[in-house]
Amino acid sequence: MEASRIALPIGTALDRFIKNNQDQFAYASGELSQLLRDIALASKVVNREVNKAGLIDIMGPMGSQNTAGDEQQKLDVLANIRFTRALTKGGEACALISEESESFADLNNDGKYVIAIDPLDGSSNIDVNVSIGTIFSIYRRKSEIGTPIQENDILQRGSEQIVAGYVLYGSSTMMVFTTGHGVQGFTYEPSLGEYFLSHPNMQMPEEGKIYSINEGSYHSFPAPVKGYIEYCKEKNYTGRYIGSLVADFHRNLLKGGIYIYPPTAKDPNGKLRLMYECNALAFIAEQAGGKASDGKQRILDIKPTTLHQRVPFFVGSRKMVEKAESL
Ligand code: AHG
Ligand code: MN
Ligand code: MN
Repeated sequence: MEASRIALPIGTALDRFIKNNQDQFAYASGELSQLLRDIALASKVVNREVNKAGLIDIMGPMGSQNTAGDEQQKLDVLANIRFTRALTKGGEACALISEESESFADLNNDGKYVIAIDPLDGSSNIDVNVSIGTIFSIYRRKSEIGTPIQENDILQRGSEQIVAGYVLYGSSTMMVFTTGHGVQGFTYEPSLGEYFLSHPNMQMPEEGKIYSINEGSYHSFPAPVKGYIEYCKEKNYTGRYIGSLVADFHRNLLKGGIYIYPPTAKDPNGKLRLMYECNALAFIAEQAGGKASDGKQRILDIKPTTLHQRVPFFVGSRKMVEKAESL
């Protein structure tokens, strides 16, 4: 039996999982798995910062005596710095798209991969000790290696992702990712500083009873979205909305449910960003048997036209998304 075919048991460390599943990593040459390791490492650093978020102001003046002084920055800027550093070091990435940067970062021309990242998602929840996350997508560059990066390397469809994942800094910290071979969930053990496989081959229930939407903007939702919410209420579904996309998505992935960020008066295309929020979660949802749509078409089929493009987002249990679409 090939090592890569061995069903890996719960408790397998992330590193071993990556090593034993090289065939899951498209174009396996070690670089892609190294990128995933780099993301895991940066997430551990961010996790450490997140865990002492309430102390950051207290510790700020002390940090300023250190060299860089970046320890005092807001956590989403700090997370951006951590992830950028981790992903830049190895030279595997040629470009980095981040929520925190207006333009993409032009990295190593010899790098083969393009990364899109929301370093800290749900940042308004930091101050109140509620779960937050990191979202990432990895693409293979289209232009020739060694040449300057081009627009078609950056503006790729979600269907071209080769790895996507998120880190959830919750009551425990988890990293959930897909390489296009199902969805794997790892839980962080802080005393050992390592992620261990806790949720192998995650499957989203095809039907659910949870709907997650910010109903405060109800009056400005399109009529079909209002109709779907009424339908959920008639069915006595449960309303759950954390306001951290990663946490809302994760709950619905485990329990079955739908997350909706529709067009509103304030955000006519919805609030969420295609390239570093929706695409990764859409890839994971589909790999877990769920569905993701902008209400009309598959999220992963949308051709981005700009870096920070927003799209309406319906993601979750397949039958729930289909029902919402049918309206
Ligand atoms: P970010 O913190 O990266 O800007 O993302 C916040 C997003 C997402 O996490 C969440 O689901 C949504 O904003 C909440 O928006 P509302 O407060 O409008 O519901
Ligand atoms: Mn976000
Ligand atoms: Mn963010």
